[in-house]
Amino acid sequence: MTPPTALPNDPRISLTNTPTGQPRLDLNTPRYSAQLHLHGAHLTAWQPANQPPVLWLSDHAVLAPGKAIRGGVPLCFPWFAAHPTDPDAPAHGTARTSPWTLTHCQLEDDHTAHLTLTQSLAPFDAQYDIIVNDTLEFRFTTTNPTDQPHRFELALHTYLTVADIHHVQVLGLENTPYLDNANNRSPHTQDDQPITFTQETDRLYYNAPATVHADDPGHQRRITITKTGSQSTIVWNPWTDKSARMPDFGNDEWPGMLCIESANAGPNALTLEPGQSQTLTTTISTQAL
Ligand code: BG6
Repeated sequence: MTPPTALPNDPRISLTNTPTGQPRLDLNTPRYSAQLHLHGAHLTAWQPANQPPVLWLSDHAVLAPGKAIRGGVPLCFPWFAAHPTDPDAPAHGTARTSPWTLTHCQLEDDHTAHLTLTQSLAPFDAQYDIIVNDTLEFRFTTTNPTDQPHRFELALHTYLTVADIHHVQVLGLENTPYLDNANNRSPHTQDDQPITFTQETDRLYYNAPATVHADDPGHQRRITITKTGSQSTIVWNPWTDKSARMPDFGNDEWPGMLCIESANAGPNALTLEPGQSQTLTTTISTQAL
């Protein structure tokens, strides 16, 4: 894990080590606060001023080398869920537990922070740009530097804070096909209604539209996610039983979170030819309801 050679001398930025020795970048400006763990290139907090946090982080998250952090935006790459051929490979790929290099960190006068992190995750090179203000933008570019074509999957596994999942509606995925991960990836099509939550929900929507809204009446806000270069959207809430099975997830935390993941996964996995690159971009913004 390599910190940038020169962080700007700016009171809005600090780089510290957590008690477990994990380098963490903190951004504190009048418009927002944010935290990035260099371990996994993992954004663990983003909170626009005068709002509840937008990103959710478990009180039971483990911040330790080799562990994925439960919350924020883990990067699932170069595969999503189980590895396609190797049952011993870690779920959701190696990006979220790998050391990344912060190669660029700049904070503009309007408080926009531009962070760039890079890593080689065989057989790919990855560049991850995070642009933070009172909106949040991610740009993830995958390059195949080899002389063979290679397949990959990618998900920005974004954990969102909601007041109470029972009252949340997700709009924008009406009539979209999905695989139900909670039921052996069985194929379905969303009906013409917004998604509501009454049980474990774990769906990989494919050939999905570019814009999704999560309406959260408890926080009186809408979270809007727009994206390019992404054909899949995963929607996940573990509900009661699955929460209880996860040691880094509190048994009573599930009503306060919802994952909406911008991805290319399952039927939308991509193959890059030698020398080819692909970029997925996502923007997250909030609006008053
Ligand atoms: C979601 C998957 O994206 O990630 C779920 O659809 C999975 O099936 C969840 O349980 C969390 O995965 P992990 O590996 O971080 O526990």
